[in-house]
Amino acid sequence: MLSTKSIFREIRQNRDAFKLLLSIAAKGETQGGWENERIAALTRDPVAARKVLRHGADETKHGLMFAKLLHKARLDTVAVPMAADYCMLLEQRGIGLPHTRLKQEEPLDKEEFLKYLVHSKVTEERASEEVNLMLKVFQDDPDLAPTLGAIADDEINHVSYTHEELLKLCAQGEQDKINRLLKDYAMVEIRVYRQVGQVFVRNMAQMLGWSRPKQWLLEFGVFATYLIERAFTWRRLVALRPPVRPNAMG
Ligand SMILES: [Fe+2]
Ligand SMILES: [Fe+2]
Repeated sequence: MLSTKSIFREIRQNRDAFKLLLSIAAKGETQGGWENERIAALTRDPVAARKVLRHGADETKHGLMFAKLLHKARLDTVAVPMAADYCMLLEQRGIGLPHTRLKQEEPLDKEEFLKYLVHSKVTEERASEEVNLMLKVFQDDPDLAPTLGAIADDEINHVSYTHEELLKLCAQGEQDKINRLLKDYAMVEIRVYRQVGQVFVRNMAQMLGWSRPKQWLLEFGVFATYLIERAFTWRRLVALRPPVRPNAMG
């Protein structure tokens, strides 16, 4: 019987597959850490900059935690295939602030800061869901569960922070712009999520020797999820609500 749990357990038991899974996770977190550090450096308002910096420090820490899990399993990180690189694909599709911009020293203007926040809001929702899914799957795994639990807890802070900051800007008259940007970003994000999902399945199929029907079924699952997201559940990525944890990055 195919289930998310059985698939992830299979990945867990194969060195190459597990190495790729954790390398993808580590790369995403580390990159998020770097981006946030740069955004903090380019943010004029010291209070806002401090929050971004704290967010960045959390992401860098998450990257290290995943790398530590690899180390503990005596595995090295592997290069993440470009087609499975969620952060870079988002950037290529114009979501958030490009690396070329972040490497400059010119402080961010209001519009750019807004783009950063909307990008964070959409991707933090996804990150939070993903880590919670992994936590559910590996809740009995003595090596993985504590790390995943700690990261999942931090992600609640990150989601809270993005909701809180965007709601503040909405109250300052930016609501229409924010809503437009949120929808645009969410639509791109769900497409990128589908793409990396399919590449992930293909890589795993190769490493784990899955049959064609099994691979096809899982790829179809990714596509079906995309269709559901595009029709209905994208709304959760854009919904703004009072933060579960107020002033989480304060
Ligand atoms: Fe994270
Ligand atoms: Fe996060």
